[in-house]
Amino acid sequence: MLKLQHSTLKALLTQIIATLIIGLFVMAQSTITLSLFEWSVLQGLLAGLISYCLRMPAWWIFIHLAFIPLAIATLALEISSLWFLSLFLCLLLIYGKTYKTQVPLYLSSKNVNVVLDTLLPKQEQFSFVDLGSGCGGLLNNLAKVHKNGLFYGIESAPLPLLISKLRSLPNHGSCQIFWGSFWEYDLSQYDVVYAYLSPIPMESLWRKVSKEMRPGSLLISNTFLIPGVTPHKSIQLNDFSNSTLYLWKI
Ligand SMILES: C[S@@+](CC[C@H](N)C(=O)[O-])C[C@H]1O[C@@H](n2cnc3c(N)ncnc32)[C@H](O)[C@@H]1O
Repeated sequence: MLKLQHSTLKALLTQIIATLIIGLFVMAQSTITLSLFEWSVLQGLLAGLISYCLRMPAWWIFIHLAFIPLAIATLALEISSLWFLSLFLCLLLIYGKTYKTQVPLYLSSKNVNVVLDTLLPKQEQFSFVDLGSGCGGLLNNLAKVHKNGLFYGIESAPLPLLISKLRSLPNHGSCQIFWGSFWEYDLSQYDVVYAYLSPIPMESLWRKVSKEMRPGSLLISNTFLIPGVTPHKSIQLNDFSNSTLYLWKI
């Protein structure tokens, strides 16, 4: 949590400092006359340089280089502010809780579906839960194929939740999505628990799993390992991010 707050704060300070320096320079002299866009490019270069000096990750440097120039260029397009408000609200409804959960939305690849298809029971009944089920794509694809399974999702972000609920309507009997934090749900009723989260909650997740999951049930984590707990099996996915599924038999 502290790490995320720290880098967000650093990014904000970088933008403020670069804007103040360029703003003061513009006011203090009259020999150099540039357009607003040209000044914004200078601000971007300065912000990029500051973030480089602060050793921020490379993707932050690109964001700093482009942020104000893009904002100025977009303003020049005279797009209705309603579009910006709508975009902001959508982002808020998707990523608004990320600050607290430390887990943004990104979706499992098709290869995850393919591998899970081979891992899930073919005949006997089972229950499967996706912790942070996003837009429900993974669950619904699995529910279509595995008629012997009951699929559950728990999602805290309102817009992905709404999309996944609508998507689950055709699979209503076998796929249900709940709103809320998966930390509040008991994991003892599931045979398979799937998590595609981030490195930050993995240690706490293991504590919850160890306390609640039944012996014989299976925990599957996409990409993120549990510190100090070796998985029983790892499956390379060969997808765009070259991710791995880690399996722990409880
Ligand atoms: C990386 S995405 C994975 C989405 C989906 N499981 C998939 O594999 O395509 C993680 C999701 O977990 C949700 N999330 C994060 N923390 C959560 C929590 N404590 N309770 C419920 N959902 C959470 C996020 O909103 C996001 O949609």
